[in-house]
Amino acid sequence: MFDEIGFPRGPDLDDGAPILESFVYCSRAAEGVDDVAVDRIIEWSQRSNVERDITGVLVFGSGVFFQWIEGPPAEVKTLIASLHGDPRHYDIVPLDRSVEQRERLYPNWEMERVGADDIREVLQDALESAEDENNIAALKRILKHLDRGPLDTLVRR
Ligand SMILES: Cc1cc2nc3c(=O)[nH]c(=O)nc-3n(C[C@H](O)[C@H](O)[C@H](O)COP(=O)(O)O)c2cc1C
Repeated sequence: MFDEIGFPRGPDLDDGAPILESFVYCSRAAEGVDDVAVDRIIEWSQRSNVERDITGVLVFGSGVFFQWIEGPPAEVKTLIASLHGDPRHYDIVPLDRSVEQRERLYPNWEMERVGADDIREVLQDALESAEDENNIAALKRILKHLDRGPLDTLVRR
């Protein structure tokens, strides 16, 4: 109703959810990329993502990555280009990419590392608390991928 300096908002100003791009993919870790290397990626990502207003989760297990990224479209686009040029992983398989006006699924996670066994639970929790229709639809798509897609071996070892 009021902006940050206390003036009433005009009727044309939308104070709703931000425009967010999300990108979800899985990939295979390059040879030699172990737990320590992944912790280094997380450390770097948390610092860099704060500056870019990007949030998300990264799963690593059985040599496979699964990552959910969300943030301003221009920043996410730049990060996707960097990810494609990063020799620490290969065989990047996009699972979901969309631009929508919605709330963040992981507002407090600059990039949280989640165990492979927990990813279903993390997504299920997000689904249970999600109110935004677009978020609900995206989460259902990802959970479906987990059930029968390339992540099958990662989650059900
Ligand atoms: C699996 C994986 C996940 C990554 N996640 C992020 C991330 O969330 N944020 C980030 O800034 N860099 C991340 N990186 C590192 C980027 O690929 C890249 O090295 C970094 O953004 C620097 O890119 P630049 O050299 O193009 O500036 C990740 C790398 C890997 C292998």
